[in-house]
Amino acid sequence: MHVDDAITSRRSVRRFLPTPVEREVVEHILRVASRAPSGSNIQPWKVHVVTGTVLERLSTALIAAADSSPDTEQPEYTYYPREWFEPYLSRRRACGFGLYDKLGIARGDKPARHRQMLRNFLFFDAPVGLIVTIDRRLETGSYMDAAMLVQNILVSARGQGLHTCAQAAFAGYHGVVRQHLPMTDDEILLCGISLGYEDPNAAENHFVTERVPLSEFTTFSGY
Ligand SMILES: Cc1cc2nc3c(=O)[nH]c(=O)nc-3n(C[C@H](O)[C@H](O)[C@H](O)COP(=O)(O)O)c2cc1C
Repeated sequence: MHVDDAITSRRSVRRFLPTPVEREVVEHILRVASRAPSGSNIQPWKVHVVTGTVLERLSTALIAAADSSPDTEQPEYTYYPREWFEPYLSRRRACGFGLYDKLGIARGDKPARHRQMLRNFLFFDAPVGLIVTIDRRLETGSYMDAAMLVQNILVSARGQGLHTCAQAAFAGYHGVVRQHLPMTDDEILLCGISLGYEDPNAAENHFVTERVPLSEFTTFSGY
């Protein structure tokens, strides 16, 4: 697969088939992804891989927590601005509405939206979940480094015929995740990643997000 195809065929898949993914394949993806650059090559990331009964128990605990008391935990880092502003507000709305439209969820149907949100914690039925963390004593640069690892994982997965979904949703429930994985208190949970084979018949997997044209995010000087 050409690298351009690996990148452009990546999209967030939110319904996976139960087809298992061998540990060797996950190891291959992570080994390739770990070639990501990082400032001074400190490689600040940690990845916790879950599958099988551990994943099931984690999912059950997360759904119970998210369903009963959604506000008991907060992410340990701030992903989004407190107050949205343009053009990001409109893009965010387009993303949410586009997904709900594909799923046939009416915009005011809060229970259905909540049920869809909870599917995050099932890793969207994927057989493998990844939890990415960094040491909390590190600084903003390490968040950039970890993001490069994450993107490499998503792209490398394409090379194996697999799909993914990056998920910040887990960050809000790091306390629950800690109870199920060998995470130390030093680790900040950045995001989860669902990994597996996409269900090609699922409506949500036909949601293709747009991108703004080059001219909107690029300036060329002296070129
Ligand atoms: C760091 C990160 C966190 C994300 N968190 C979630 C999430 O919690 N749940 C979800 O359904 N999608 C999540 N997404 C997926 C984005 O919504 C998606 O990447 C975006 O809409 C662009 O669509 P595409 O990935 O299909 O190109 C996340 C993406 C990134 C990069």
